[in-house]
Amino acid sequence: MKVIVTKDYEAMSEAAFRLVKTVVTAKPNAVLGLATGTTPLGLYARMAEDHAACGTSYREIKTVNLDEYVGLGPESDQSYVYFMRKNLFEHLDLPLENTNIANGKAEDLEAECARYNALLATLQQDVQILGIGSNGHIAFNEPGTPFGAETHVVQLAESTIRDNARLFAREEDVPRSALTMGLKNIMHARRVIILANGQNKAKAVKGLVEGPVTESLPASVLQLHPDCTLIIDEAAASLL
Ligand code: PGA
Repeated sequence: MKVIVTKDYEAMSEAAFRLVKTVVTAKPNAVLGLATGTTPLGLYARMAEDHAACGTSYREIKTVNLDEYVGLGPESDQSYVYFMRKNLFEHLDLPLENTNIANGKAEDLEAECARYNALLATLQQDVQILGIGSNGHIAFNEPGTPFGAETHVVQLAESTIRDNARLFAREEDVPRSALTMGLKNIMHARRVIILANGQNKAKAVKGLVEGPVTESLPASVLQLHPDCTLIIDEAAASLL
């Protein structure tokens, strides 16, 4: 794993943007694996700025997102599909039909997982962007998730519900379950870029980089990925 430590969040976002722009420029029909959460917002803002200023085109780009809350759809401002449209997609020339996010409102969630999994098999990510949870989760693969898991329905860990409660009016409003790509789908990406900032990620980052490869810290599986770059600010790197 390549580790890049940057001074702060802005420098982390800039370093990630440079790598993503290289991929999009070299391969205008690349598949981008995208993440939600607060971590990639600086990266997405730079992609939008660069598109406006330099005309970098996303017309032929395809995207696949990591996860979605069960029960939420585009009309909910807490859904991940809403988040992606608002924070990235509507600022690019990316056709919405090229974007893919598991449908949290599907009537048959198992069938939706199967559909999304089959789709992912045809859309290998040229680069997958990831954040990391304070408990070491990636996407919604919580501690204990088998490394071989594919897209599945997950009950969120208490720590994840608490972490995400800041984005909802009340903790009770945080959905208790989600659809998520599995670790196998993430490891299938040609390249992975994982981002982390802030002291509250330092312990998970230490486990990711220095700990054993263990299902109790899902992100540690990335030690086995042939092309993984970790970009972190000094606070997230403080225990390394
Ligand atoms: P965050 O979430 O970017 O909002 O910190 C990351 C995650 O839980 O994967």
